Amino acid sequence: MNLNDEVMWVEKYRPKTLNEVVDLNHVIESLQAFLKNPQSMPHLLLAGIPGTGKTTVAICIARELFGDKWKSFTLELNASDERGINTVRDRIKDFSRYGRTGFGDAPYSLIILDESDQMTGAAQTALRRIMETSSRTSRFILICNYSSKIIEPIQSRCAIFRFSKLDKNAMVEHLKKIAQNEKLQLLEEAAERIVEYSEGDLRHAINALQTAAAYQTGVIDEQTVLQVFGEASPRQVQLMLNKALSGNFIEARKMMYDLIGQYGFSGSEIVRQMQRELLKVPHISDSQKAELTDIIGEYDYRLTQGANSDIQLSALLAQFSKFEK
Ligand SMILES: Nc1ncnc2c1ncn2[C@@H]1O[C@H](COP(=O)(O)OP(=O)(O)OP(=O)(O)O)[C@@H](O)[C@H]1O
Ligand SMILES: [Mg+2]
Repeated sequence: MNLNDEVMWVEKYRPKTLNEVVDLNHVIESLQAFLKNPQSMPHLLLAGIPGTGKTTVAICIARELFGDKWKSFTLELNASDERGINTVRDRIKDFSRYGRTGFGDAPYSLIILDESDQMTGAAQTALRRIMETSSRTSRFILICNYSSKIIEPIQSRCAIFRFSKLDKNAMVEHLKKIAQNEKLQLLEEAAERIVEYSEGDLRHAINALQTAAAYQTGVIDEQTVLQVFGEASPRQVQLMLNKALSGNFIEARKMMYDLIGQYGFSGSEIVRQMQRELLKVPHISDSQKAELTDIIGEYDYRLTQGANSDIQLSALLAQFSKFEK
């Protein structure tokens, strides 16, 4: 099944208000306190692992500040936009200065910079100045995986909120609600299994549920979940591994994208399965397996630190395809 063919549940069930956000209670409480008196809201830095609600929370804040017309008061830049120094100088500076004009009751304009840890150092320095001079007319929400990649002077101007793995029970409850709404019977142990495999990433858990629902209409039991996570994958992962080990990087990478896009696997899960499948490969020696395991360990660590999984997996496959046998 290709998840792109139908409405993605991650979008359908993306919270529209802070009250609907799963887990993250202390983050939400602090933000709601700021929103009671919007002038009191500082610039924000939302940092942490993928699929835990950072972008969602930023957009909820925009909605709560400005209502349905939030888009006219908000400049949203994400990774696909150019983020060099010129963008910062031109678009961000203009918006932060003039954003407020004619906006009636809105206390300021909002600038959301998603994946801001990808900004160059020069752009961050320019951004810092704009943050200093425009704090009466605008607020910034910076979103990133690693707060350490944001320069210190920006960090010190922001209230920092950390997003770590979401609570398992809260995730299970959320999946059950979605299932109920989709008229699916999701058995307790199946929900727990999805959550266990998703490692605190709710986007991933919801994608897995949707894939399971396509496998099996009506009742989702543990078996279906194992099928989604387990059976389809070793074969695919085995193929991808063999492609990479035979030096065919481009094809291996394409298979990796299928695993993420069509099967809904998370990066760390693919890495874990690569490790398991690697040990079964017949034509390489034990010492080579040890060396490759070492490489896998490095990438596994990077992923737990919140690195972008497409890029890290591509890099891992690149290492495998260069490996001397
Ligand atoms: N805390 C949460 N509460 C409710 N839904 C969530 C939460 N976290 C993630 N989701 C679900 O996962 C989807 C992706 O979440 P979101 O885009 O906010 O993640 P993110 O933290 O910005 O991830 P990334 O670092 O990959 O950008 C949402 O559309 C929503 O369906
Ligand atoms: Mg995001």
